[in-house]
This record gives sequence, C-alpha cells and structure tokens, in this order.
Amino acid sequence: MDVKISPSILSSDYANLQSELSRIKNADLIHIDVMDGHFVPNITIGMPVIKALKGVCDIPFDVHLMISDPYDYADAFAKAGADIICFHIECKSNIEATIDRILFLGKKAALAIKPDTPVDSVIPYLNKLSMVLIMTVEPGFGGQSFMQKVLPKIRKIRELNESIDIEVDGGVDFETVKMAAEAGANVFVAGSAVFKSECPEEAIETLRNNALEQISDSTQIRLV
Ligand code: DX5
Ligand code: ZN
Repeated sequence: MDVKISPSILSSDYANLQSELSRIKNADLIHIDVMDGHFVPNITIGMPVIKALKGVCDIPFDVHLMISDPYDYADAFAKAGADIICFHIECKSNIEATIDRILFLGKKAALAIKPDTPVDSVIPYLNKLSMVLIMTVEPGFGGQSFMQKVLPKIRKIRELNESIDIEVDGGVDFETVKMAAEAGANVFVAGSAVFKSECPEEAIETLRNNALEQISDSTQIRLV
C-alpha cells in the first residue's frame, strides 16, 4: 500500500502560492480545498486559481470540493487541472451521476464523508472510486483537532477493500498520522503540520515515515 502525503494549501500563504508550492516538492499530491460558502460557511478558491497553479506545478492535484452542487462544476474543475475530483456524499448532486461524469472526463473520482455521516453510505460506490476521504474534522477550516471517533470508519472501509486509497483530512500531525495509518488510511492531508513548520519538506518526510512505520508494524502483527 503506497503512502501518499497531500499537503493542503489552505494553510499556505495565498499571496505567494507559487513559491509555497516550491517548498513542498516532495509531496505526492497537492490538496486544494474548494469551499463555496453554502456547503460550508467558508469560501476559498476556485477554477481560475487551480488553472494558474497547474501551469507551475507537476504534482497531481487532489481537489477537495466542499460545494453543494459538484455535478454542475465537474467539467470546469477537470478543465482547470484537477487530477482527483473529490466531492461530498452530503452534497445536493446525484452521487452516481457525478462519479460517472468525473470518470467520463478522464479524472479519478473520490467521495468524502463528514465525521457524523455513517460510513455505510459510501459502500455502494466503492467499485467506481479511486479514493474515499474520511474527514477527521468538520469541513470548512484548517487548524482543527483530529477526531479519533472517526477511526472505526477507516477500519471498516479497509476491511472491505484492501487496495482503495483511504485519505484522512483534518488535524493530521506527526502523532495522529500514526493512528490513521494504523486504522488503514494511506493518503494523508496535512495543512498546518506542513505549512506552519520551519521546513515543509522535512515535515512531509516525517509524516511519511511515521505512517510507513505504523503500516509495517500493523502488517507484522497481522502476519504473526
Ligand atoms: C478542512 C480542509 C482541510 C484542511 C486541513 O475543511 O478540508 O484540508 O486544510 O487542515 P489541517 O491539516 O490544518 O487540519
Ligand atoms: Zn480538504
């Protein structure tokens, strides 16, 4: 199982996005939080900024849509440069139709669930998805604390599917990354833990190593 670190640019300096990207060259994905002021109270960035960043960055874009109507915007985000289009199961769009549209556009589809949404809701869609995003905070803002109560949801998806990417987002730091990895997650979003550190590249490596250590420990436990 590949471990991937996806730094969230929500915690970066929006006045200097290009140079912020140059501080995370060892990232596996770039996590971009899109908020519409309806699905969540906050408003962030949209297609024009993603398009501009695509021109200066070769790392795949992991676009997290916290918007009410992702179906209506799938084409626009695909065109802007999203590689993974992740939307919420709690949105207003038809879920199946939105996944199908993303796949038709040649992009990877991912579904996100909020902390209080039952994990069973995503199970019918697993075979079409590249990734499931289990939110470990309420979506909307960076810098919140990791909710451990969400860990059983990660375990359940991992039991059902050994190969799907399971991403965690919210409050992931050098310690909580281990709990998420132990539960079965392999893609880790980190905003504050990466961008508020002195050396973001070192923070990415520490997150990666802590996750990898935990995953190899859990595998050994299973083998014994
Ligand atoms: C929150 C966003 C997260 C956020 C994570 O709604 O989806 O991606 O940037 O930030 P940290 O890692 O600081 O909790
Ligand atoms: Zn996010």
